Amino acid sequence: MVLKNKKIILCITGSIASYKAVELYRVLKKEGASVVIILSSSASKFISPYIFKSFGEEVYSDDAFEIPLAHIELAKTADAIVIAPATYNTINKIACGIADSLITLTVSASGDKPCVFIPAMNGKMYSNEILQKNIKEMSPEKYFFVSPASGELACGDFGEGKFPEIADIIFELESVFKNNRLKGRKILITAGGTREYIDPVRFISNASSGKMGVAIANEAAKEGANVTLIACNIDFSCLYISKKIKLIRKQSFRDLKDSILEEFPENALLIMAAAVSDFSVKEKSALKIKKEDISPNGAADMRLNLIKNEDILKLLAKNKQDGQIVFGFAAETDNIIENAQKKLKEKSLDYIFVNDVSKNIIGSDENEGYLLKKTSEFSAAATNKSRSEINKKAIENYEQSLEIKKFERMNKTELAELLLAELA
Ligand code: CTP
Repeated sequence: MVLKNKKIILCITGSIASYKAVELYRVLKKEGASVVIILSSSASKFISPYIFKSFGEEVYSDDAFEIPLAHIELAKTADAIVIAPATYNTINKIACGIADSLITLTVSASGDKPCVFIPAMNGKMYSNEILQKNIKEMSPEKYFFVSPASGELACGDFGEGKFPEIADIIFELESVFKNNRLKGRKILITAGGTREYIDPVRFISNASSGKMGVAIANEAAKEGANVTLIACNIDFSCLYISKKIKLIRKQSFRDLKDSILEEFPENALLIMAAAVSDFSVKEKSALKIKKEDISPNGAADMRLNLIKNEDILKLLAKNKQDGQIVFGFAAETDNIIENAQKKLKEKSLDYIFVNDVSKNIIGSDENEGYLLKKTSEFSAAATNKSRSEINKKAIENYEQSLEIKKFERMNKTELAELLLAELA
């Protein structure tokens, strides 16, 4: 709940999309933010201030003369200013330093407080070179823009200019309150469960929902990382994935392995949250298998030939470059710490997070478990010297010195943040 108790000045300017600010307001409230509304005079032609007043909110008109010095007080007490929708006129005015309304005055008095714009307009207006030049020249440390969505616009044209999804706005707003501790770091994350097809309609898989990997990917992107997410068979209608993430969709072990091998060299860190099939079907049938073909004489059993899959983590950890970090997950039902310790060692991982999957974790929004990591002594040795140079002493240290940290049951997003803090 990054937005909990944050004071947001929600400035609504006049556009056919003004009504969408009402939904944004409701989500901000649900997130625990306190919201003050400024409705521009043109926005008040599209929506009524009574919508917000009936929820008990303070609503200001943008008449700068109505309450003298309101802009100073508003700017002083705000944690962030959100302009949604932000019209062509308002963005250009703010970019040029014009302050002739309560909204533009409040922005002008807001010092280093973040200001998030949600542009929404006709596609030609959005791509207009004056607007684009102004957006580019506004300081990226203070002014944040959520890209409009593409599609059919209110005027009937198709293009980029639609009010974006509320989830994209909340993502950007949460990002501005995060420290940028992963800024520029390239992180490869896998999520979901692989599927090994038997024929075109049947497969062997596992129950992984992908929620943990997606939570880590979103959190890392919020903290400024350049994230690539390889998602295996995730239900995208249930999970939000930021548009800032490079998303690659894969299905089988083979697809996943090829994709990781291609992406890994570009990344400083691999977080392998995907549940990978340990076996693949030896020969996938091109046609749907008929039960008569399996048991022509009425025999009740069917045999499936499986082949063992290579361990992707082990392969990558063994061949990683100096400075690259490999973080694995382990799903266990018994002897969880001992088993995780074994996996950490056998796969030569830097970190492993282990959970007891018998505790209703798969598919849940919550998770708990233990993080096992090598101590700084070994990590330092690993980063300063090539792997072959690491001396016997360091390897002995590795054998003996593991740090184990317990994480109580919590929301997967919160856990993602804590795990990333360990890596920052
Ligand atoms: N993993 C992998 N390649 C595989 C199997 C697993 O890279 N062929 C990775 C998983 O993504 C996870 C870690 O190894 O990060 C541990 O996976 P897990 O399923 O807990 O254990 P396995 O190594 O498959 O061993 P087992 O099933 O015997 O517990």
